[in-house]
Amino acid sequence: MSVSYMTHPLIKHKITLLRKTTTGTNEFRKLIEEISMLMGYEALSDLPTADIEVETPIEKTVQPVINGKKLAVVPILRAGLGMVSGILALVPSAKVGHIGLYRDPETHLPHEYYCKLPEAIDERQVVVVDPMLATGGSAVAAVDFIKARGGRKIKFMSIIAAPEGVGELMKAHPDIQLYVGCLDRCLNENAYICPGLGDAGDRIFGTQ
Ligand code: PRP
Ligand code: URA
Repeated sequence: MSVSYMTHPLIKHKITLLRKTTTGTNEFRKLIEEISMLMGYEALSDLPTADIEVETPIEKTVQPVINGKKLAVVPILRAGLGMVSGILALVPSAKVGHIGLYRDPETHLPHEYYCKLPEAIDERQVVVVDPMLATGGSAVAAVDFIKARGGRKIKFMSIIAAPEGVGELMKAHPDIQLYVGCLDRCLNENAYICPGLGDAGDRIFGTQ
């Protein structure tokens, strides 16, 4: 598995703002969207293009376009939902699947409650999005589901990751490409990322 860590100062700046306790729901959502767009720009840099003929005011020419319908964005519910609009701003014709997982507060193990993916998932470039990669349990389970339904070309985007989660995902799925906005120090006793940003789902949706 290849892991790419984001180095762009705009991404670093926005992740810092995201962490602040004083960042309210509205700003938090906007930052998640903007960071996802900036990370998506990097993560999609190898999207295949096909040549089409277009007519400029001057002449006919053959130029490259992407086929956005071949892309499937798959957020892990809930927090991953906040990242979808950033990717769709780049590729509006992408299909969107959903995987519902929550972490048991005691065991920290993921539980599935929903999974719906676009058809012909085996032919698509799949981009799984979740802002937090903590123990890696949710990420591993989500990629397991996608592979069990035929997905083969899989990228995973997370805004903040713990070394533990990166390690778990690499071990379980060495064939995928991982894009990380910032690698944090460690997990605490509740399996929250330190310094992290707290509970991403609660901060996006204003729940507690
Ligand atoms: C959060 C986060 C990830 C998961 C990461 O979701 O969005 O999906 O935890 O933790 P892990 O790497 O240890 O599995 P959560 O289960 O809190 O659900 P929510 O998004 O509905 O709040
Ligand atoms: N889920 C979150 O939302 N935050 C963490 O730090 C870990 C898991």
